[in-house]
Amino acid sequence: MRAVRLLAILVLVVSALACTRGSTSRRPPIHPNPNMDRQPKLLAQAESTFFYDGAAMRQPVDGTVARGKLREDEALYLGTEAGAPVSTAPVPTSETLLARGEERYEIYCTPCHGSRGNGKGIVATRGSIPAADLHLDRIVQLSDGQIFQTISNGVGLMPSLGARLPVEDRWAIVAHVRELQNR
Ligand code: HEC
Repeated sequence: MRAVRLLAILVLVVSALACTRGSTSRRPPIHPNPNMDRQPKLLAQAESTFFYDGAAMRQPVDGTVARGKLREDEALYLGTEAGAPVSTAPVPTSETLLARGEERYEIYCTPCHGSRGNGKGIVATRGSIPAADLHLDRIVQLSDGQIFQTISNGVGLMPSLGARLPVEDRWAIVAHVRELQNR
């Protein structure tokens, strides 16, 4: 009986002392199986005294292009040909392109330019942002390349949407804007 009681007290004491997970200690826990947990390697974003710039990560060689990211097609990616805006979009208009363009236009342009492109979107009216009426003669006469560039780079108070819209979607929106202007 005494032995059982002693054992119980021992178990209590040991568990009371052992249950210190989450509390800090200056001595690291015993690590019987290292299992490659600690490795003398450089982690991404870490500091390093080995390289001259103090960073562990290396920069890619100048001019490196990620696979599938070569942007050779000037008309498609910049909307220009030998530096001048293209007059017509370099992608063929199709039902799918128009549908995609309308859907993207509703998300990215409607808040300012309105569904009809009359410049009376909710942000324009309530935030008094002078969004352009896309039916203005001056804007109807812009080339496809110029509208593409407006979407890519922004103009005046209009923000650049290039970072948010892949080029294919920008051309789809251009096609939708053209359709709006013809209605
Ligand atoms: C945050 C509001 C806002 C959004 C979103 C916006 N625009 Fe604009 N947009 C403007 C304003 C403001 C102007 C007038 C800029 C100026 O002339 O200073 C403008 C002008 C334009 C013009 C005329 C450019 C010119 O050369 O005068 C076009 C075309 C145009 N926007 C198309 C679009 C399309 C397409 C989208 C969606 C991809 C879009 N905008 C999204 C605010 C916006």
